[in-house]
Amino acid sequence: MGYAGPRAAAPILIDGLRRLEYRGYDSAGVAICDGPRLAVRKAEGKLARLAELLEDDPLPGTTGIGHTRWATHGVPSDQNAHPHTDPSGEIAVVHNGIIENYLALREELAGRGAVFTSETDSEVLAHLVAEEYTGDLLEATRRAVGRARGAYALVVVSSREPGRIVAVRMISPLVVGVGDGEVFLASDIPALLPHTRDVMVVDNGEIVDVTPAGARLQTLAGEAVQRGLLEVTWDVGQAEKGGYPHFMLKEIHEQPRAIGDTLTGRILDGGGVVLDEVHFPPGFVRSLDRIWVTACGTAFHAGLVAKEVIEGLLRVPVEVAYAHELRYRDPLIGPGSLTVAISQSGETADTLAAARLARERGSRLLALTNVVGSTLSREADDLLYTRAGPEIAVASTKAYLTMLVGEYLLALALGRERGVLGREEVEDLIAGLRTLPRVVEEALGRADEVRVLAERIAERDDVYFIGRGLDYAVAMEGSLKMKEISYVHSEAMPAGELKHGTLALVTEGTPVVVVLTQGATYDKTISALQEVKARRAFTVAVAWDDDDDIGKHAEAVLRIPRVPELLAPVPAVVPLQLLAYYVAATRGHDIDQPRNLAKSVTVE
Ligand code: F6R
Repeated sequence: MGYAGPRAAAPILIDGLRRLEYRGYDSAGVAICDGPRLAVRKAEGKLARLAELLEDDPLPGTTGIGHTRWATHGVPSDQNAHPHTDPSGEIAVVHNGIIENYLALREELAGRGAVFTSETDSEVLAHLVAEEYTGDLLEATRRAVGRARGAYALVVVSSREPGRIVAVRMISPLVVGVGDGEVFLASDIPALLPHTRDVMVVDNGEIVDVTPAGARLQTLAGEAVQRGLLEVTWDVGQAEKGGYPHFMLKEIHEQPRAIGDTLTGRILDGGGVVLDEVHFPPGFVRSLDRIWVTACGTAFHAGLVAKEVIEGLLRVPVEVAYAHELRYRDPLIGPGSLTVAISQSGETADTLAAARLARERGSRLLALTNVVGSTLSREADDLLYTRAGPEIAVASTKAYLTMLVGEYLLALALGRERGVLGREEVEDLIAGLRTLPRVVEEALGRADEVRVLAERIAERDDVYFIGRGLDYAVAMEGSLKMKEISYVHSEAMPAGELKHGTLALVTEGTPVVVVLTQGATYDKTISALQEVKARRAFTVAVAWDDDDDIGKHAEAVLRIPRVPELLAPVPAVVPLQLLAYYVAATRGHDIDQPRNLAKSVTVE
């Protein structure tokens, strides 16, 4: 958030940040220019703590920037909170997103004597702007971002130029609000709405020069950009949801961005994988005898994918266990094993207990989690953060997909270190991973077809999901999404299991969703589909775009763009998330907060 105008900046920034708190809330801060004096106030914890600090000791000044953080690099703490300043304290930055080459930049700057006060990637930006500063903040910022790589939005102030704010957008969102003699910057529209409805959207690769008199846009190459103002007609509630009716739908649509962020900076051009916070001791991966994966709910379903992927690529046994089962068993976990605990929140009581048990038994613990600084992340030996951003809807969507991406990266890292992956295999997987943001975007573009189908399924009391191998894992997740938000009874099972009992429940019109992405078991699963069809089920298939035969077997087909089969769960789950969403919407449920459920289950 940024403000330049005639009014006191701090209260405006705090109010704006409050409206952005749904994007992150582990720490917050502001930097205010009062004439030639730049002061920073920041604190770990919710925004309310910062607001209290400012009430006790107000900061005067009419230009300022502010930030509410969702950690990606460095735990939530006072030091890691934004704004970050250069060593002289003359330049302050706030930043969303990820600077991919921050380690190289940090080393380069440290080599010239720079001292860093935080663990963040963002702090390098303040140093870079300061190094480039020769009297013009716009030019200094332009040159600084020329040295940084990644996806980010950046807002900068300097005590040398009070009244001026410079901001850059590179993928992460940034909007400008234009008032009467005052200008606002924010990462999302809700923060602007109390002050103005006249908004200018900054595009990728643009830099904006803000003073109380107005905002001037340029490309990073220096060409002026003329852009008109848009009038926002949404109310604040709609704006928080990005114009979507529910957070769940918004989060489903954020998945291409979330996948892109989770991949950013982690794949090297030569095919290597960089996982900054995974530090296996020498020889550990080569001598690894077993991998345990433990989680609950949707994270458990991500674990089912991990088993297929890691076991398939590494040929190391992988056991997946519900955390609430594992913790009360006497499992054969021991030294020489790796336990991967998967948890969006990092606070699920059962997952924490299972992870602790694994560690007590000598296993190394890797946390695959979305929340930096969560209990799980603090207790783990190694960390692999998904970068989905805060997930607000109770039903998990973007966290699940980024967990899958984390698992592919982990499998590649382990596979390389064990020396078991062929060059071509690695290249195919990496090329496939890189296409995932676009592929998911394409799958989302077909939402209308899913909506039509959902209207039909919404009338039914039961629905079944089947598949084999990776397709079974996807069926499990599709089924959970369906029941938790639509309250339609649903079950998932391996396609071959249906005839051992459940087939008795399939009658005329019963929807059966078949996930069909795996060539090796395709024909066998078609046989299961024929079995339910013979009982007059309503058959729906999730199948590849280029599957020319499926139309002969299934009544309705939800098509997905082709990717390597190992990556199929990523696009395949998308129509199933949408199906659950539209069934629930048709039935008129409280989609973001389904009955009886909580976002984070911190009790046993
Ligand atoms: C379902 C869902 C839950 C969670 C489960 C684990 O949509 O969100 O099943 O996946 O409660 O939560 P985390 O991942 O926070 O440990």
